[in-house]
Amino acid sequence: MTKTWWRDAAIYQIYPRSFQDTNGDGEGDLAGVIERLPFLAGLGVDALWLSPFYKSPNRDGGYDVSDPRDVDPRFGSLVDAKELILKTHEHGMKIIFDIVPNHFSSDHIWFQEALKSKPGSPSRNRFHFYDGRGPEGNEPPNNWNSVFGGPSWSRVKEADGSLGQWYLHLFDSSQPDLNWENPEVAEDFEKTLRFWLDLGIDGFRIDVAHGLAKDAISQNHPDPEGLTRALRLDVVDMEKTVRENLLKDIPFFDRDGVHQIYRQWRKILDSYEGDRMSVAEILVFPTIRGTRYVRPDELHQIFNFDFLVAPWDATMIKESIDRTLREVATVGAPATWVLCNHDSSRIVSRLGDSDKAKALSMILHALPGGIYIYQGEELGLPDADVPSEFRQDPVFFRSNGSDNGRDGCRVPLPWLSAAENYGFSTGSPWLPQPKAWADYAVDVESADPNSFLNFYKKSLALRKSHPALGGEDSIQWIESPESVLHFQRSLGLQIIANLGAETYSLNFTSEVEILHSSRVEIVVQDGVLNVPSNTTVWLQF
Ligand code: GLC
Repeated sequence: MTKTWWRDAAIYQIYPRSFQDTNGDGEGDLAGVIERLPFLAGLGVDALWLSPFYKSPNRDGGYDVSDPRDVDPRFGSLVDAKELILKTHEHGMKIIFDIVPNHFSSDHIWFQEALKSKPGSPSRNRFHFYDGRGPEGNEPPNNWNSVFGGPSWSRVKEADGSLGQWYLHLFDSSQPDLNWENPEVAEDFEKTLRFWLDLGIDGFRIDVAHGLAKDAISQNHPDPEGLTRALRLDVVDMEKTVRENLLKDIPFFDRDGVHQIYRQWRKILDSYEGDRMSVAEILVFPTIRGTRYVRPDELHQIFNFDFLVAPWDATMIKESIDRTLREVATVGAPATWVLCNHDSSRIVSRLGDSDKAKALSMILHALPGGIYIYQGEELGLPDADVPSEFRQDPVFFRSNGSDNGRDGCRVPLPWLSAAENYGFSTGSPWLPQPKAWADYAVDVESADPNSFLNFYKKSLALRKSHPALGGEDSIQWIESPESVLHFQRSLGLQIIANLGAETYSLNFTSEVEILHSSRVEIVVQDGVLNVPSNTTVWLQF
């Protein structure tokens, strides 16, 4: 198989609003990312993925795009975007941007035109506008719920002031879903893909990639509330079979119609010089259906979100690794491994313990395929407790506060322990940073050889320099107790992760070197290796 950069790359996700501010408005910007490129190159990642910085009224953290081919002034300008692309490449890294094809912002000119147009007009046909049900049309066209809670339909006022049609929004009411059966939509996205590819980016992360095609809009769903709960990655209060039944046939997700869109996108990506790639955010069931998105003529990678929710349980982790590798192999795509992103709890908080977070990262970073790292993960940042009056996530509001939403993992990064707002901004950060974050600041962690940051740097450096890490050679499991994961890669590399409560001891007759471990004090003495509870080691035989 030809080696292409993305197949086993370490890709770092930047949430620009919270990365680095340079103009004192309390929100990060593109100039801030440029300023921090030396830090990112020094961290040892291969590529950057930027969450949206496009023009947006920012009702869903920029995933509500009002002009996908321009930069929101809060983040800078197109000149900054071009400089960022250029400088990232000069620093030896690739750069990919987010693309949001399921919906536009309601501020997008198309939607504004649609509001002013008549029912049945070509402008309305770019979205999903329908008449309501009931004698006055007072009932939404169907009973679907928004993924963020509440109904997935909102009613508009017609130009004459009367109550009118309804439009579909699978997310916030400010995010009208696009009608992908209308060729104008595909044409416009083709323009957007080409716009950024022409500027030299290396690919795209595709938002809600499984959502673009919809079926049976005129029909009610048998259990819309249940479906909304089933769609949560961290659902706990639902029986497995009930959840599986709900997820296996969703009228608005994972319909066959999405694949022709991605075949077309692949042709566009392939028509450019260099090695341009795409990674899809998908949530499909059963998971094997995800491989349809990465067939050889479609996209390049799919996110594997198992480790955003996987319990601290060796058997389940092993099953997930095996399943992931087995499934992607059926289409020749590489696996991806992710611990956190801007939609999930940070791994240290989710596992409740930074030792476990380190140990899990060392399992994932030793597996075949690509890895994604969410900004701040390399510092071992926990979630911040954001007071309700500061919360901005529509999930919090649409659920009437029953779900705290995702602000806790989006708090601006601490760079300098002693500086105002930890060097993130000279103005007041858009979400308040916790007092305790001085200890996590980049300057403090850089100076401490045993910090989380230096631990991540070492993992990433080894992943780059050791030919058996990353790569795509298969893994072989070595027999071990139930609570221990022990596997080998090629060239004498072995990985041992002890997830149990007791120390796991092994005897070696041959020479062995400890390449890396999630605890500093581990040594092999007189041929015996003691792996303490919640610890991973990489061994070289
Ligand atoms: C994706 C994004 C998330 C956003 C949603 C709607 O899941 O990751 O942040 O809210 O899509 O665009």
